[in-house]
Amino acid sequence: MDNQKVLQDVTKEIELASSQEELQIVKVTYLGKKGRITELLKSLKDLSLDEKKSKGAEINLLREKVQALFEVKLKDLKILDINSKLNTEFLDITFPPPEVSAAKVHPISKTFDDVVSIFGSMGYAIAEGPDIETDFFNFSALNIPEDHPAREMQDTFYIADKDEKGKPLVLRTHTSPVQIRTMLNQKPPIKIIAPGRTYRCDSDSTHSPMFHQVEGLFINENANMGDLKGTLIEFCKQFFEVQDLKVRFRPSYFPFTEPSAEMDIAYEIIDNKLQIGKGDKWLEILGCGMVNPVVLENCKLDTSKFQGFAFGMGLDRITMLKHGLTDIRSFFNGNLNWLAKHGFSLGEY
Ligand code: DAH
Repeated sequence: MDNQKVLQDVTKEIELASSQEELQIVKVTYLGKKGRITELLKSLKDLSLDEKKSKGAEINLLREKVQALFEVKLKDLKILDINSKLNTEFLDITFPPPEVSAAKVHPISKTFDDVVSIFGSMGYAIAEGPDIETDFFNFSALNIPEDHPAREMQDTFYIADKDEKGKPLVLRTHTSPVQIRTMLNQKPPIKIIAPGRTYRCDSDSTHSPMFHQVEGLFINENANMGDLKGTLIEFCKQFFEVQDLKVRFRPSYFPFTEPSAEMDIAYEIIDNKLQIGKGDKWLEILGCGMVNPVVLENCKLDTSKFQGFAFGMGLDRITMLKHGLTDIRSFFNGNLNWLAKHGFSLGEY
């Protein structure tokens, strides 16, 4: 009655096993290559055919019973394991998270926020326009006719799709088309800024094919060049956080403004570091002027009643100046180490 003895023994040992590892050892002892049941099966080879048949069937039955016993016990042990884990492991949700991968705000995003908040405090609303523009909004309504050299100045990206007049669409080369869209949609007084992406076919350390500008537009009955200067100087003082900021306005030319000017900020380099607002070197940061009456007429505004000023500023440029960054491309290559160093934590707002 070997089989009976084996069954008794294995049942007892299975009962005693208190972990999955212990159970596995028992299993090997009985069902492994040299296990007791396996040996019983091997011993059949010396028996006669009839005996083989009857004994073989008995041993197979034994093996199936034993396997079933192991399965039931394994299930029990797994449940025990889960329960003990549930009792001992828990998550303390009041524990502060590690600071290793705190998210950072991109310097351009920070500039966007600063620009919106400074002009917002002066009463400017935000306006928007599409990145893909028609020839009308990007050029002709802004008094930049076909064949005008300004079109070449702006290294335009043309798109194969055409507008309803059959002219190729463009990636907007500046934020100025938002001026036109706003004047066609709103009645004066108009006081908006339009920050956004702009595109030109140009790339080096100070030019990127995609860059950012903010457009400003103020239209009422008597806005003048003095208001324009005051607004821009006040913006720069707040943005660069320099109170006695040295700036200058130079006469310039833009088809959509008359007169036109460019604004420069003074700087000097002390101990290899850029100091903004003083010194005898100049950096151009924006174009501006009184909105050309031709543009007002293109937008169906009564030029005997309304006038105003506009400006367009490079946001990447002022961000680089403020933070002493020298390569515009570093803004856009998605390097997380760079962002960890030059980005802003939310606490800095
Ligand atoms: N759109 C011009 C550019 O991208 C910048 C500019 C100049 C905008 C004068 C203006 C402006 O609104 O009045 O170079």
